[in-house]
Amino acid sequence: MPADASWFNEAKFGMVIHWGIYSVPAHAEWMLHDEKIPFEEYRRYADQFAPDDWDPRDWVNLAQEAGMRYMVLTARHHDGYCLYDSDLSDFTAPKTAARRDLIAEYIEAARAGGMRVGLYYSLLDWHHPGWQAGPESDEWPEFIEYVHGQVRELCTNYGPLDVMWFDGGGPGCAACWRAEKLAKMIRELQPDCLINNRGLLPGDFDTPEQKIEASEAGRMWESCLVVGHRWGFYRNEQYYKPPTRLLLDLVHIAGGGGNLLLNVSPMADGTIPEPQQEILCEMGKWLARHGEAIYGAQRCKYGSHGTFVNGGATARGNTLYLHMLLWPGQQWAFSELGNTVQNARLLTTGEKLEFVQEGDRVIFPALPKEPPDPHLSVIALELDGEPRRSE
Ligand code: GLC
Repeated sequence: MPADASWFNEAKFGMVIHWGIYSVPAHAEWMLHDEKIPFEEYRRYADQFAPDDWDPRDWVNLAQEAGMRYMVLTARHHDGYCLYDSDLSDFTAPKTAARRDLIAEYIEAARAGGMRVGLYYSLLDWHHPGWQAGPESDEWPEFIEYVHGQVRELCTNYGPLDVMWFDGGGPGCAACWRAEKLAKMIRELQPDCLINNRGLLPGDFDTPEQKIEASEAGRMWESCLVVGHRWGFYRNEQYYKPPTRLLLDLVHIAGGGGNLLLNVSPMADGTIPEPQQEILCEMGKWLARHGEAIYGAQRCKYGSHGTFVNGGATARGNTLYLHMLLWPGQQWAFSELGNTVQNARLLTTGEKLEFVQEGDRVIFPALPKEPPDPHLSVIALELDGEPRRSE
């Protein structure tokens, strides 16, 4: 674990981007595997993947507008295609139609925009004969050399990295991937880089996928979720989660002390589909008003989800934030608070709120009649100590 990982806890909200040659046929990133396309046929998409007008600053601007604090891009997904310049493969962006090192440009833009920068790297590689032959085979050692060599390239050629986000660490055990050695190399080359838990070792943080599951206290965690239904771009995607749903997820995650890594799926030309942009901007508008209740939130000991507050609760220091999905109208009370409330305000508007405390019950006699926010209105309570449940 790097000496200082506090930025990760503070950040709370990041973007993961699934982009590759699978964005051309637009059947998402598992197409090669799921549709059993012969590799020689599939690799032709690399001749069509030429995002000439792509400007990574558009992604960075969107991430900023969404209130995200870090970004993670697929340097290489399961199909083996690299968005970066690898001496160990010809199946890369610079050596095919794209003719650019897309990772270098992404990192530069993200850094310039003040974002923390991460790289997703799939350990498995469907197109590599060694991976196909498996850990028991004679080809396997060469495959492991290749994987370690590529991670070395990523850790050497692009300046400081904040997150190494492994995926696809299977089949086999930590020993067959030489996982300890790989992690040691990353620590040497990138001492400040966090490593996730998918490199066959526990790493620095857990990554519940498509679910929210807090790790034990003291352990960092990050839920990765999609805004629609898939990670990679799928043409005509018709289902998107409403921003209110995703904000509720963010609150639930922040209340458990975790981070939300939310996925976007750019099209082959690098444009993030309009509905995804709209969702992120809507979340950003909410965060601009309510960020105080999210960034730097610690595990909320009053409870986060399924508390007496209908949209969950978050905590920072001695402040408890009540997220109201259902606005109760003028009178409302909640209970089982183990602290004394010192003052109350509506974070959504900044106005002070009247309240009466009777034991572990807090009563609000004069709230605004209508919900002050279209998604989640937030009440902030300054307490006499860290928020906790009554006995
Ligand atoms: C799964 C999928 C993969 C995606 C990842 C994100 O492991 O196989 O396509 O990149 O989830 O967490």
